[in-house]
Amino acid sequence: KKHDPEYVIGFSQCVGSDLWRKTMMEEIKMELSLHPNATLVYADANGSSKTQIEQVKKMLNDGVDILIISPNEAMPLTPIVEQTYNKGIPVVVIDRKTSSNLYTAYVGADNYEIGKMAGEYAGNVLKGKGNIVEIMGLPGSSPAIERQRGFADGIKRFKDVKVTSQLYGNWLKGTAENQLLKSAASLNNVDMVFAHNDVMAAGARSVINRLRLNHSIKVVGIDALPGNGGGLQMVGSGVLNASMLYPTGGKEAIVTAFRILNKESFSKENNLQSLVIDSSNVQLMKLQWAKVSSQQKDIERQQALLTEQETLFKSQQTVLNITVIT
Ligand code: FRU
Repeated sequence: KKHDPEYVIGFSQCVGSDLWRKTMMEEIKMELSLHPNATLVYADANGSSKTQIEQVKKMLNDGVDILIISPNEAMPLTPIVEQTYNKGIPVVVIDRKTSSNLYTAYVGADNYEIGKMAGEYAGNVLKGKGNIVEIMGLPGSSPAIERQRGFADGIKRFKDVKVTSQLYGNWLKGTAENQLLKSAASLNNVDMVFAHNDVMAAGARSVINRLRLNHSIKVVGIDALPGNGGGLQMVGSGVLNASMLYPTGGKEAIVTAFRILNKESFSKENNLQSLVIDSSNVQLMKLQWAKVSSQQKDIERQQALLTEQETLFKSQQTVLNITVIT
């Protein structure tokens, strides 16, 4: 829209450096390109809740019209998000949650349901019998809590499917590898590793390979990102047996933010869909993604052409003006 007021959008990201959050940022930028008058103020807390609180405080001081936030851990970030909301600044929570319902809107997939879907998938793939090692995300971050609860509920009806060991990988590949190596014994007699994201799942696969363990151990993750190094590629090549799609919600967060800012109707809860990606549908998903990304490139080419023509048009106008004056 051409006539958007000059909104300032604050975006507080818990950690910006991984592929999932880079993908989120790409989506955000893409959607923001439709609102050329808006300014995005971005802060990356680099995995520290303390830093994130400081960064939000600074945004509030400098002044933002709306805050989009993915809280590193639920509890520590709750007071500052509540304060923002109570000041009358709308808050869009994305992916990770606080432990309060004082926010304007939430955008993201339901992590409890994703965990449950993974659990049911595990029970079926293991044909109702097997031992699972669970590698969990950062303790205190809402997706780790919800995925763990969901998974436990998902395997419940498979009486002989058990989580025999749990460890925290804190969402990071290296941490997952170290923790798994420390408790390598837990991998004996194990049929599956379920990790709360694909990077930790990839870490588990590399540990399994390094220890030359039984190659029939299945590894299941979450995210299923497209592109180089993403989960789709890893499911395609057999590094992972399956991954639950976890959409980033970048586009939807911006759409929701503008609806709020422009006083249009919006939903408080914006639930994004998930699905199981495994060998049965990974090819299809990769094809779909290739198509979407080539269409995206076409759009970018068209935009570049438009800018070019605009510049040309302006220079012609200048010439015309000079002609009129003389
Ligand atoms: C990225 C990430 C994802 C995961 C999400 C949970 O930082 O670890 O892999 O799905 O955060 O918040």
